[in-house]
Amino acid sequence: MANSCHICGLGSYVPDKILTNHDLEKLVDTSDEWILSRTGIRQRHILESGANASDAAMEAAHAALADAGVSPEELTHIFVATCSPDYFCPSTACLVAGRLGLSAKGDGQGAHVMCMDFNAACSGFLYGLELARSVLALRPDGVVLLIGAEALSRRIDFSDRSTCILFGDGAGAVVLRGSSAGSLWGVQDCSCCSDGSLHNLIVMGGGSAMEVKKGDMLPDDFFLTMQGREVFRHAVRSMAAESRAMLERHGMTVDDIDLFIAHQANLRIIEAVGSRLGIDESKVFVNVQDYANTSAATLPLALDDARTQGRLKPGMKVLLSTFGGGITWGAALLA
Ligand code: UT7
Repeated sequence: MANSCHICGLGSYVPDKILTNHDLEKLVDTSDEWILSRTGIRQRHILESGANASDAAMEAAHAALADAGVSPEELTHIFVATCSPDYFCPSTACLVAGRLGLSAKGDGQGAHVMCMDFNAACSGFLYGLELARSVLALRPDGVVLLIGAEALSRRIDFSDRSTCILFGDGAGAVVLRGSSAGSLWGVQDCSCCSDGSLHNLIVMGGGSAMEVKKGDMLPDDFFLTMQGREVFRHAVRSMAAESRAMLERHGMTVDDIDLFIAHQANLRIIEAVGSRLGIDESKVFVNVQDYANTSAATLPLALDDARTQGRLKPGMKVLLSTFGGGITWGAALLA
């Protein structure tokens, strides 16, 4: 596919409230030393009671729109990648559109914006880039707002030490156009993979498989469960393989890459993937220590952080890599 998809604005948001490893020591049998050495995580940001994924999404959306110099009325599509939406219905994307003022006028006209949530778990943002690429190939005049937003703290069992230490809340957003006007990076390529036979490795219930009646206690499988060791193994193997394949497809090596941004779930996974790829450590971006795993938000949060830190400049060659529930994974090339 020709390079017909460009990121022209970027923004992110994390809530003010911070939960440190020491805070978690008071909730479960864990230690700062264990969490830091096994995951690289020092703290995570948590939404206050009353604030939801859509609130985080709105903040990131405002930042990305301002960065792009795009007004909400110009948007043709709003896609929200999330596995912790405010509701099954309405979609988080519709909530965002409503709060951006994109409502139909009296005559029923005026809100030609397609709003949709989708769930590829932690791979959601990268899957969303492919979705945007496809939409903009068909509608080059379109303007897509793609948001990765999560309120995972709502679906974490804070008595389960094997999962509650790993996740945080936050959102990141990009504005994508079919033309290169105002482009920060072109989305050169995306590859999205899955293996549904491994769906049981990461599960968050609450859907129709959960047969609950009004008044029932919340079943345990309402909360996220994960077979951590297995996920770790698959994540390293798949992320490394797909990243390598992406580079080969474009006749590139890791030396051609300016920055490698992998899904921020665990420092040990990022380091293992980096080492399998043979990429210089200085080119590997890491911010998992500050936010933990924010699922669909990790990649846009990392892109925004990297830019703020001066490590990412427009036009640089960026290799993105992701992995998540489903299971899903993939790679993308920005330049
Ligand atoms: O976004 C994609 C989804 N997620 C991921 O990518 C996460 C992938 N997995 C991981 O990051 C790691 O597997 C974990 C961080 C979840 C776990 O690290 P691990 O090195 O694989 O530890 P483990 O599960 O093998 O557990 C080792 C020990 C166990 O004790 P025993 O059986 O050896 O006595 C656990 O019970 O560590 C224990 N443990 C803990 N100890 C203190 C598990 N969680 C904790 C904890 N604090 N929070």
